[in-house]
Amino acid sequence: MSKRSTFKPQTVMVIGAQWGDEGKGKIIDYLTSTVDYVVRFQGGNNAGHTVVVDGVVHKLHLIPSGVLYPKTRIVLGNGMVIDPEVLLSEMANFETKGFKLNLLISERAHVIFPFHIMMDGMIDEYKGTLGAGTTRRGIGPAYADKAERFGIRMIDLLDQRIFKEKFDQLFDLKKNTFRCLYGQRMNLNKNEIFRTYLNYGKKLRLYIGDVSLEVNRAIAAGKKILFEGAQGTMLDNDHGAYPHTTSSNTVAGAVCTGVGVGPNRIGDIIGVVKAYLSRVGAGPIPTEAKGQLGTYLRERGQEYGTTTGRPRRCGWVDLVQLRYACRINGLSSLAITKIDVLGGLKSIPVAVKYRYKTTTLTELPADLNVVRHCKPIYKTLPGWKNLTDSDFTNIIKKGYTALPPRMRDYMKFIADQTATPISLVSVGAERRATIRVQ
Ligand code: GDP
Ligand code: IMO
Ligand code: MG
Repeated sequence: MSKRSTFKPQTVMVIGAQWGDEGKGKIIDYLTSTVDYVVRFQGGNNAGHTVVVDGVVHKLHLIPSGVLYPKTRIVLGNGMVIDPEVLLSEMANFETKGFKLNLLISERAHVIFPFHIMMDGMIDEYKGTLGAGTTRRGIGPAYADKAERFGIRMIDLLDQRIFKEKFDQLFDLKKNTFRCLYGQRMNLNKNEIFRTYLNYGKKLRLYIGDVSLEVNRAIAAGKKILFEGAQGTMLDNDHGAYPHTTSSNTVAGAVCTGVGVGPNRIGDIIGVVKAYLSRVGAGPIPTEAKGQLGTYLRERGQEYGTTTGRPRRCGWVDLVQLRYACRINGLSSLAITKIDVLGGLKSIPVAVKYRYKTTTLTELPADLNVVRHCKPIYKTLPGWKNLTDSDFTNIIKKGYTALPPRMRDYMKFIADQTATPISLVSVGAERRATIRVQ
């Protein structure tokens, strides 16, 4: 049977169900063998997705994680914010490695400029404890300009007259904002940036087009589409841990606005769940493991940011948060990743509820002050022995039932508590270290 026939719905979406870095890139790469298109719909180069194939590590920030399959069309949707300098260097990097880029970039996606990057850092510092600890890639300021309707879109870079008209206005506005609001000089050369970005437009012209039109036509023609989420549910600007969020909608519903497809075009929605939890950036995390256990998870799981290299804060699976992610995204199934990292622990705590003062909470509170004071109520599950690479190689050949019973019990507990089945289990960073659950 061909691999393509194992993937039933015509469109599938892969979403981060926690705080980002769940292993979306790995799962997307694994599923790409079954699809014709991989389409990103939000975020920018704040994302860092890692794909490992035969020992070669590929790090992706803007280019979709389907890039390793030359026949797959990879698409950047209108809901994204794009730093053309980063995109061009990522494209060059993959071309140097010998990959052919079958890339389409939405003409409606917004452009990140150097002043967005400068502002990102200044604003986050100004916010102090209310800041998210951004990746400083200019994401928030670029989305803010989009919402204020000052934004410059990819298509504008292709028309010198329009670009100049918009850029002059935006640049002068930023210069004044820097001076009046932040008391700082914006030491950037207007003409140089204008010329540089015009040149980026020339280099990217061939790839820029109408994403909604092409993706809808592809769906009508029976092609298979994978929508690639970036960040995670708790970083969603509406449904996440606001204000410690990113500036886009990261949840499943965002695919409709971020690509231009109707809700009736959405098939399966897979939520990627790390077998524990990590978060890079600021804000309260009820199940954060501080001290030795936190350090153990970070070192064992190599939890360092793909984009910024920052150490990730680690902790335990939070079912209050996961049930919320299932509801907000309408998850059809879960892909559990990094379960190998937990091997060798005597027991593993999983948060089932929160204690807030004298009350017990089963739903995620919106009030930041409540979240800050929530204490998780844990159920402790028995651990399993540490497995070697060769143990896993044998298990992968045999399939899901060959996994240690306690490991399966741990995953079953998560599936039962979230009322969501598990479709995939990842037991290593390599593409081949993946097990389908029937
Ligand atoms: P993403 O942003 O969701 O794509 O995740 P990242 O790539 O930022 O972080 C996930 C990290 O875990 C990467 O270094 C992956 O190579 C690695 N990884 C993914 N799945 C597994 C797994 O099952 N086991 C182990 N040990 N590492 C994994
Ligand atoms: P992937 O796709 C983890 C976090 C930042 C910060 C907050 C806002 O690899 O899962 P931003 O630069 O977006 O304004 O930062 O969001 N953040 C991520 N954390 N993984 C990511 O992407 C992230 N993208 C943004 O650390 O707390
Ligand atoms: Mg990442």
